[in-house]
Amino acid sequence: MKEEILNVLKQKNNYVSGQELADMFNVSRTAVWKAITSLKKEGYAIESVSRLGYRLDTENDILNERELDFSDNIYFCDILNSTNNTAKKMAVEGCREFLIVTCNKQENGKGRLGRTWISPYGENIYLSMVFFPDIDIEKTSQMTLVFGIAAAETLKNITGLDVKIKWPNDLIVNGRKVAGILTEMQAEIDRIIFVVSGIGINVNQTKFDDEIKDKATSLFNESGKKYKRSFIIKELVKNFQKYYAVFLDKGFGALRDEYKNMCINTGREVKAVSRGREIIGKAVDISENGELVIKNKSGELVYISSGEAGVRGLDNKYI
Ligand code: BTN
Repeated sequence: MKEEILNVLKQKNNYVSGQELADMFNVSRTAVWKAITSLKKEGYAIESVSRLGYRLDTENDILNERELDFSDNIYFCDILNSTNNTAKKMAVEGCREFLIVTCNKQENGKGRLGRTWISPYGENIYLSMVFFPDIDIEKTSQMTLVFGIAAAETLKNITGLDVKIKWPNDLIVNGRKVAGILTEMQAEIDRIIFVVSGIGINVNQTKFDDEIKDKATSLFNESGKKYKRSFIIKELVKNFQKYYAVFLDKGFGALRDEYKNMCINTGREVKAVSRGREIIGKAVDISENGELVIKNKSGELVYISSGEAGVRGLDNKYI
C-alpha cells in the first residue's frame, strides 16, 4: 500500500487528505499515517497539514531502487565502498550485462591513476555498469571515450550547460571538472572477461574541499538549479547503451567527430604524462583510435593512448 500511496501523491502533486487515501485503499487513517511515516523515513519530503492532508514535494531528490525503476538490472545500496568494486565483484559472480550499481555515498570512491574520488552522501551520482564486450583488449580504453560522449550529451541536454570533455574523460563546465569516468577490466591474455565503467557526477554538491575547489564544480554550482539524480541516471544509462551499440557496431571511428567537437584540449598547448614520459606540445587531433595527438617542439606527432595518461595545460594548469 505504501507504493500505491506514493504513486497517488506523485500523480496529484497536491494535498490529498488522509481520509481520501484511506477510502481509496480501504484501510484506516492510522494505516495511511503509518505508511506516510515510513515513506518519510525513506527520505520522501511529505508535508502534513491539518485539514488539507499530505503533499509530496515532487522536486525532492531521492535516490533509491524504486525511483530508478530498472527492474532487476540494478544493484542499489545506500552506502558502498566503491560502485566499481561492487560491480567487478558482481561481474565475477556472473551478473548480466548492463547491470547498474549505484549508491548515495561511496566510502572509498576511486579516481583514475590511483586517485581518490570524494563521494559525499546524497548529493552526487556514483554509478558503475558492467559490460561483456567482444572486442580487442586494446579497444577497451575507447569505451571510456564513448561513455564520455554519452555523459556529456546527457548533462548538456538536461542542464543546458556547455559541457566539454577534457581528454580522455573528464567532463568540464566553465573550466572546472563536473564528472569523471573510471574504466576497469579483467582480461586474459587475449580475451576480455568483463569491463566495468564507473562515473562520478557532481550534481547538487555546493562546497568542495580546499584542495579541489579551484578545479571542481557541480551542476548546481554552474546552473543554480538542483537536479533529481534518478532522472539524470535514467537518461545517462539510455545514452550509455545507445553509444555503446554504435561503438560495437561501427567502432570508435564512427563517434570520433562527435568526440572531437566536445573535446576541450585540441588546439591548446598541453603537457601529457604517459607511463612516466612527459610530452609537451600542441594537442592537434584525436586519432581514429581515440589517442590524443600532440605535435611536439620538433614538429613530430606523438600519439598518446588514454590508459595510463594524464594531460594538463602548461604551467601545470588544469586545462
Ligand atoms: C576520475 O576522473 O578520476 C574518475 C572518477 C570516477 C569516479 C567514479 S564514482 C563511481 C565509480 N566508482 C568508483 O570508485 N569510481 C567511479
